[in-house]
Amino acid sequence: MSKTFDIVVIGGGPGGYIAAIRAAQLGYSVACIESWKTPKGEPALGGTCLNVGCIPSKALLHSSELYEEVVHHLGDHGITAGSTKLDLGKMLGRKDGVVSKMTKGVEFLLRKNKVQWIKGHGRFVGRSDAGVELAIYPDPAAAVAAADAKAAKPAETVVASQVIIATGSKARHLPGIAVDNKLISDNEGALTFESVPAKLAIIGAGVIGLELGSVWRRLGSDVTILEALPAFLGAADQAVAKEAAKIFAKQGLKIELGVKIDAVTTTKKAVKVRYASAEGEAKELAADRLIVSVGRVPNTDGLGLEAIGLAADERGFIPVDDHCATTVPGVWAIGDVVRGPMLAHKAEDEGVAVAERIAGQKPHIDLGTIPWVIYTHPEIAWVGKTEQQLKTEGRAFRSGQFPFLANGRAVGMGSTDGFVKILADEKTDEVLGVHIIGPGASDLIAEAVMAMEFKASSEDIARICHAHPTLAEAVKEAALAVDKRTLNF
Ligand code: FAD
Ligand code: NAI
Repeated sequence: MSKTFDIVVIGGGPGGYIAAIRAAQLGYSVACIESWKTPKGEPALGGTCLNVGCIPSKALLHSSELYEEVVHHLGDHGITAGSTKLDLGKMLGRKDGVVSKMTKGVEFLLRKNKVQWIKGHGRFVGRSDAGVELAIYPDPAAAVAAADAKAAKPAETVVASQVIIATGSKARHLPGIAVDNKLISDNEGALTFESVPAKLAIIGAGVIGLELGSVWRRLGSDVTILEALPAFLGAADQAVAKEAAKIFAKQGLKIELGVKIDAVTTTKKAVKVRYASAEGEAKELAADRLIVSVGRVPNTDGLGLEAIGLAADERGFIPVDDHCATTVPGVWAIGDVVRGPMLAHKAEDEGVAVAERIAGQKPHIDLGTIPWVIYTHPEIAWVGKTEQQLKTEGRAFRSGQFPFLANGRAVGMGSTDGFVKILADEKTDEVLGVHIIGPGASDLIAEAVMAMEFKASSEDIARICHAHPTLAEAVKEAALAVDKRTLNF
């Protein structure tokens, strides 16, 4: 006998667990299927974000930033600390503790909201009048194998009238470069090096390359990042990208652009990357460890989409409309497995929106106001259009920029690198994009998102009282700069 629910969510990452909680709040009987296991083999909720993504990376970014502060910057404040020692084991242990606290927290939240956690890997069986049927296998491998061996018996089956697919993404690997998460790592291995590599090579200067590259550089690695594209941080506003490149170079992060990776070879303890430089010169980079961070791909492994008449597109994403509905009635898909930025907060918002739409509400998500944050030092954050996008679109705009160098709080903190840049429509003054590189950018961007959601003008931001002395005053001043009337610069 199958268990029956109103709604079944496949995947317990930020998209899935939030969708399940919102659906339960709306009065539905809900189950969440999740097959993640910790390295110790214990089932865990939270998906990529909590286990091997946002949370552990931010824990290590914070710890490594403290270490760098003590070693290199406390002297500026007149503080002399005793001899500083790095206990990497303890730092990684703390990170694991943070992860465990957060994943247990999700478990508690599901219990509190009476969402049933089904531990296993869900695979579509088909649709009937009763609803959509799913078989539950003990792990992804068993679910994948079930496609070939029809006899492979699932542990149980469940039926639901509505199904939300939130199966997330996995690291993209490169052909011929085998990731063993020892010498050659993707995000999972790069969060657990048991010692600080003297030389660390990274392929891909995207978000993971910059964040985890920063972590290991701060702890003492000599880091070189090899990037295929000729432009650095192509998705960011180019003024921000230029500033970031300058600051990262000063910090000692080496970044080579426009390279073409030829081959990677390994010995027992070392890695060699052969590549062609932007100028076509054959080069070789020897390192103790290599991180491959060249993007992520949607994950539909062992999901059996074909059983309900669904198919992933040529890039692996499940096609959905603006409301995350698939072409199969009653089946929805959210988060990293569908189009749009692969970000936890985007997955969460889609989870809430789908649960509310099932309940007959009319939620709306604007992918144009999803903020991006890169948690380097200084942080980088943006929302909306970049200057280069507006130029390509031929949209007339005005731009205002204010440096943290002229912000009292930033000067007091000794963190004056970077600026806030606001782009506003030339005629209406509507804010079209906000780009920040500097201290606290991850929090400052919230004001910009709010402004854009409310269709604010730059004048609106400029007229709002901002507490003094705060970093947020730089946002106000950048808004004033759009009208060429900064007060403090
Ligand atoms: P996931 O979190 O990937 O969760 C999907 C879950 O579904 C997994 O737990 C998987 O086990 C489960 N699953 C898959 N198939 C099945 C099945 N058939 N049956 C049962 N369970 C299944 N984003 C940010 O916004 N901020 C950050 O700071 C940030 N940092 C990151 C750092 C790193 C190193 C990485 C790798 C990613 C980071 N991200 C960050 C991205 C973020 O982790 C993802 O966007 C987010 O996790 C996507 O959520 P999701 O729910 O769609 O998928
Ligand atoms: P990414 O897409 O950010 O960057 C990948 C980089 O690798 C790109 O610059 C790309 O040009 C480069 N690249 C691709 N193929 C290459 C090759 N063969 N040789 C050299 N360079 C190559 O992907 P990343 O860093 O792996 O992160 C994956 C995703 O995870 C991000 O896009 C983001 O959605 C999410 N994430 C978000 C974070 C945040 O919000 N702070 C932090 C970390 C990850």
